[in-house]
Amino acid sequence: MILIKSDDEIELIRNSNLLLGKLHGELAKHLKPGIKTIELDKLAYEFIMDHGGKPSFLNYRGYPNTLCISVNDVVIHGIPGDYVIKEGDLVSIDCGIILEGYHSDSAFSYAVGEVSPQVWELMKRTKEALYKGIEQAKPGNRVGDIGYAIEHYVTQFGFSVVREMTGHGVGRYLHEDPAIPNYGRRGQGKRLKAGMTIAIEPMITMGSHKIYIEKDGWTVRTVDGKPAAHYEHSIAITKKGPEILSTFKYIYQAINENPNISSP
Ligand code: MF3
Ligand code: CO
Repeated sequence: MILIKSDDEIELIRNSNLLLGKLHGELAKHLKPGIKTIELDKLAYEFIMDHGGKPSFLNYRGYPNTLCISVNDVVIHGIPGDYVIKEGDLVSIDCGIILEGYHSDSAFSYAVGEVSPQVWELMKRTKEALYKGIEQAKPGNRVGDIGYAIEHYVTQFGFSVVREMTGHGVGRYLHEDPAIPNYGRRGQGKRLKAGMTIAIEPMITMGSHKIYIEKDGWTVRTVDGKPAAHYEHSIAITKKGPEILSTFKYIYQAINENPNISSP
């Protein structure tokens, strides 16, 4: 069932996403070669608790942490641990917060130090695809319009769309209906309505779209070992069109001040 939100509820989802945006900025300040992914996770947990929220991912279907940190050929759901970030890594950080009962969800991919031109291109096109998808998130359009826009955009550059995992409704719960695939057909799928709040999250691979899940039950990796990028915004569908509720503003500020990281 698709949950339609009131303006007051959208305000609460916006507030949750604002706090999440600030957290992403804090994480971006600390992301550099030598840091362990578990250290970033700890920082995120403390930041969220200090600001009166709760991590959305922690204990969700048994997920063990606050963040998903997915490096290189890990597409999504990388579990923080003893892995030490190194120069040349493509690092995607995904997080969600429950604040005053409402969930936020967003993700961002970083280049740590220098990455290859192909990796940079993958990141750039994945982020652009996110905004192509968002453009389609308006009343009267359908879910397939979002997926089509994303898939059509990235495949032009030879990249592939992961099919097993999708975006989703978000707000009262972390994952609500409808699923928002990053592929689709124009004019197909559920109709989009004002008051829907959804997370759009292209997961794009450099090589084949094929993935597998590791024995830990979470870590999603490409079968061919090639890298993947992931960007995600929470958005509201309004009468006037899409409204982006999450923000990368604090990430860009941090990137400008952190010489160790960059993003297209
Ligand atoms: N942003 C991802 C998603 O929406 C993160 C979920 S991780 C989980 O699916 F641990 F919460 F499952
Ligand atoms: Co999500």
